[in-house]
Order: sequence, then C-alpha cells, then structure tokens
Amino acid sequence: MCGIVGFTGRQQAAPILLDGLEKLEYRGYDSAGIAVAQSGVAVHGGVEGAGLTKAYSAQSGSRQTVGAARPDAQEDWQEGTGAASARSVQDGSRMTGAGSAEPSIEIVKAKGRLKVLREMTDDGRSVPGTCGIGHTRWATHGEPSVVNSHPHYAKNKRVAVVHNGIIENYQEIRDRLTKEGFSFISATDTETVAHLLDKYYAGNPIEAISRVMFRVRGSYALGILFADRPGEIYAVRKDSPLIVGRSDQGNFIASDVPAILRYTRDVCFIPNLEIVKLTDREIHFYNVDQEEVEETFSQVNWDTEAAEKGGFAHFMLKEIYEQPKAVRDTVSPRISEGHVNLEELGMSQEDLAKVSRIQMVACGSAYHVCMTAKYMVEQTARVPVDVDLASEFRYRNPVMEKDTLVIVVSQSGETADSLAALREAKKLGYRVLGIVNVVGSSIAREADSVFYTWAGPEISVATTKAYSTQLAAVYLLAIGLGRARGVIDETAEQEMTRELLRLPEKIERILEEKERIQWFANKFSHSKDIFFIGRGLDYASSLEGSLKLKEISYIHSEAYAAGELKHGTISLIEDGILVVGVATQKSLFEKLISNMVEVKSRGAYVLGVTSYGNYSMEDVANYTIYVPKTMECFAASLTVVPLQLLAYYVALGKGLDVDKPRNLAKSVTVE
Ligand code: M6R
Repeated sequence: MCGIVGFTGRQQAAPILLDGLEKLEYRGYDSAGIAVAQSGVAVHGGVEGAGLTKAYSAQSGSRQTVGAARPDAQEDWQEGTGAASARSVQDGSRMTGAGSAEPSIEIVKAKGRLKVLREMTDDGRSVPGTCGIGHTRWATHGEPSVVNSHPHYAKNKRVAVVHNGIIENYQEIRDRLTKEGFSFISATDTETVAHLLDKYYAGNPIEAISRVMFRVRGSYALGILFADRPGEIYAVRKDSPLIVGRSDQGNFIASDVPAILRYTRDVCFIPNLEIVKLTDREIHFYNVDQEEVEETFSQVNWDTEAAEKGGFAHFMLKEIYEQPKAVRDTVSPRISEGHVNLEELGMSQEDLAKVSRIQMVACGSAYHVCMTAKYMVEQTARVPVDVDLASEFRYRNPVMEKDTLVIVVSQSGETADSLAALREAKKLGYRVLGIVNVVGSSIAREADSVFYTWAGPEISVATTKAYSTQLAAVYLLAIGLGRARGVIDETAEQEMTRELLRLPEKIERILEEKERIQWFANKFSHSKDIFFIGRGLDYASSLEGSLKLKEISYIHSEAYAAGELKHGTISLIEDGILVVGVATQKSLFEKLISNMVEVKSRGAYVLGVTSYGNYSMEDVANYTIYVPKTMECFAASLTVVPLQLLAYYVALGKGLDVDKPRNLAKSVTVE
C-alpha cells in the first residue's frame, strides 16, 4: 500500500523523507517520489547541478521544479519538449526551473526501488529545502510509471499532493475538470485532487481542502504542499491511516509509525475527516467545517530496534524469533494469580455472561485466527461463534441475535474491509470489540472495546508475531468468557492460564530446531503445488500455513479440512506432491492419519506436524516435525511456528524477496 512521509523543520527535508520512505518499503511499492518546497532564494545553484548529473545517469526517473516562477514547466514536460538532456532519461523526463526568487516546489520521481530516487537526488542532498512530502506508490489507477507516481501537481504548479487511498468518483471529477479546461497528464485518481485543490485555492489552504473533502468520495490520506506557503505541510485523511509526529527538530506526517520512529515517539493518529496544518514549530488540527480542534498526542513505546532488522536477514525471520516475547507481552499483563483480567474491555462479568453469540470478522491471517477462535471459544465458553471474511460480512446484510458481540481482528487496525465491517456492525447496533496491534489505529478508535496485542511493530508483509499474539488474545477472551458464563471453574482457569504462560518458552524450543525445517524446506523449494490438511483446530492452522507459504514463495497451495479431500481435491494428488498433515488433537489424530495414508498411497510425500509423544505419526509420514506438548486448545500457537519457518525457508530457497512479496502490501487500506 502507498506510503506517505512529510517533514517540515530545521533540517534538510529530502534525506529525512527518503529515510522515512525506506522504513515504509515493507508496505509494498513500485515507484517513489518527493516534493520539496523551495523558499525562493538560490534554489538552483551548484548543489542542484550535482543532482542533475546524478539524475541523468538514473535508469528511470523524472525531476521537475514547479512553482509560480515557471508557469511553462509542466507544459514542456507534458509535451516532451523539455531540455534536450531530459530525453536521455529512459522512463520519464526531467526538468528543473531556472533560478528564481519566487517560491516553488521541486519534484523528483522514479519508477522502481527507492535506490533510484536516492541516486537521482544524491541521497536527498541535491534537493535543498526544509519542508517536503514523499511517497511510495503501489499502483491502483494507472500502471507503475514515473508519470503516475506521486507527488502529483496542478497545472499551474501551485499545489503538490501525495495520496494513499482511492478516489472513487475520480472519473466524474476528471470529466468535469477537463471540460473546465484542466488538463491531466497521469492516469491516476490522485491527480484530480491536485487540480481540485488548485481550483479551490484562493489563499486559504484549509478552506480549499475542506471544499475538496466535500467533492471527493472514497478513502484518502493526503499530504499537500502549496507553492506560496513554503514551510507548511497540510494533511487530511478519511478512512486511510495518517499520523502526525512532533519533535524539537520539526514536525512530521507519515502513514505509519516506523517511518518517523527515528526522530520522534510523540505522535497523534489524525482523526478521520480532520485537516492538519504543520509548520516547523506548530501543529494545528481543523474539522471539516474549518474550525480549529484540539487533539492529544501519545507516546509510542516501540523502540527503534523493533523497526530494524537487528542482524537478521529478513524482518520475517526476526519477527518469527520475536514471537516468544510478543506472546509473553500480550499474555502476562492480563493474568494475575491464575485469573484472566479483562477489565480493559470495559465489560462487566454480567456483560460477558450475557453474550449469546459471537460474530468474528477479519481478513487474511487474522481471519484464520478467527477460525481458530471458533473452535477454542465454542469449547471453552460454549458460545456459538460465526466467522466471516470482512469483505463478505460488510455486504451481506447479516442476521444476528440481539446480544451478539462482534469481534474484529486486525494487526494494522486499518484494513479497509475490516474497518467497513466494524462500521456496519455498529450501524446495526452491535457492540464491537477490536483485537488490534496498532495503538490508536482506526479500528482501535472506532471499536467499543479494544484488546491490544502487544506484538510491537510488524514490518514483514507476511504476519507472524502479530498472528501469534492474536491467538493469545483469543485464548484470554475464551477463558474470561468461559469463567463469566460458568462453563469452566477456577481450577480449569488456573490450569489454562499456567499453560498459557508457558507458551513463549515452548515456542523458543521450536525455534531451536529450525535447522531441521530449513533442511526439509530446501528439498521442496521448487514444488509446483503444496497441500495442507488438518481437522478441527489443526484445519485452522493448516489454512494459515498454506497462506504463509503461498504469499511469500508463490507456490500454489491449498489447505483442506482433511475430511473434505475425498469430495474432490484428492484427484489433484500425484507423485511427489508435498502434503503437510497437521495433527495435534487426540480425538482426531487417527482420522488424520487415515487421510495421510490416502494421499501417500496416491504418491504424495507426507510431512507430519504433531506434538511430541505422537510417535505413530512416523509410521505414515515421510518426515515428521514435533512441537512441544501443550493443552490441545493452545496447539495452534505451536504448530504455526514450523509452518512459518517452512514458508520462510522455501521462499529463501527460491531466492525471493521474503519481506516484500510481489503484488502484496502490508496494510490493505483500500477495498
Ligand atoms: O492488518 P490486518 O491484520 O487487518 O491484515 C489482514 C491481512 O491483510 C493480513 O493478515 C494478510 O493476510 C497477511 N499478509 C498475511 O500474512
């Protein structure tokens, strides 16, 4: 998903923007760009020259200075009649304005990795100025290209814009503006915003932004520069995340905390539909009616190392290794003297006892947590649990009982479908509980109760530690509900909480054996298809194992409830195909073994994942991975670890970019 960074302060902006964009690389992107306000004095001197030389050697990029001083610059660029040297740049063009005493905005954009933008700008040094905005683009409207990359700007060069989200009515606005004489150069929805701002701007940025908000539909987080207001950044958001950070050196906007963690921990998640004005020393918030409003800042307790690789080859591996700590941090504060404490939910024991049904909604891996929760909560609390994909729930006009508790699970707290599902549930009058990792995120703010998972920042697109903490959160809720409803007694609660507190150490033991998984993964890194089978809780774990594998290794994979095999899928089994069988549930163990025999007799190579003690697995499986024994209801927390490692090492064996799988974004903030 696109990433936004902005800085205005007492240091050069461009290096800070590039640094911040790098921290957002994990979100996925195909091009990047920066816009830096030039105050109007000595804009293009020797420093600029250095940037020019660099830029000409870049493979793909463009650079323009736009502003009141060069009313013809963009027309030149559009028509390809710019400086002759511009033509030597392969994918795009480049133009810089002549020296000027007028304020202007310099924009540099490049297709591909940030490294290209770094080269073009001499690591930001050749774009002077202390106020700017930057963007990594993940193409939605229009192919990945320089012209479609952000920042976008208005024809008369007064405004530059970076955008995350989708302007749904962009075509209608574009048609209207075209009739009015505005000309568009990109295929993006964002360019409409630049032109609209230009149209409405008559010296008051807040007014212009507020008018744009009334015109556009969809979701947006916008960072905006006005050429005649050097030193000021404007930002606004609707249903797309954007934060503000403040420090002694200046103020920031960013899509996510890691982008600015190096400079400040003092942040505010911009409330939906609010506009922000930032100068080097001040931050002001306004509502859509242009009235100034007060907002509070909070301290992010994530440390900078948590957002760095810290010696690991990939964030994913580091985050797999952080799981014991993440689970411990999530579980320990909620257990005292063997009792689960759910006070933070703001629900009394009576409220919990009254819950007659639970509706869980989420996307991707978080949905698999819900699948696990269905088995776990139904067994422990005897409350029926329905599970829906958020993208389905939001449109299906659900029929739910009066005392249904809706639980939305999300690492980012910003997933568009999950947020929409939450709003739908609230609109229908249901109480919503969010299980969320990012403090202050949209889901956290809009839910009636929040249960935070303390995983810390998760950078890798493939979730691992956040998943494990979501499972832990679900266990705590199940125990709390079970007690409140009188389904489990104090002894059972004590036994379960004792075991919960032991899970981190058991995860550590699995990690100590990672070489066995690595060795096995190397044998199968060139597979075409890999299947996962399980029953009950193990089926839920299989779904996660399969998703993990396919998203980072690009190997086709499916997970099946093992009993379903005979109803069609078994016809896909052929010689040498890998089938991973997960079997931790005693009552279902023999059944799963039979399913493994069925696939093996049709030529499959079978990997068994089970708990120590279940040694009969070796009678069937070609290779077996054991996890420590635990209570069956918590087994998913252990079996998922070898499955994560399997996915990681298979992808590594294929030489893939594990942390940034193709076509994927960390946080899916558009529908
Ligand atoms: O931030 P969320 O937990 O709401 O994200 C949900 C999914 O997009 C996410 O789990 C996705 O499936 C991951 N890439 C899986 O590793």
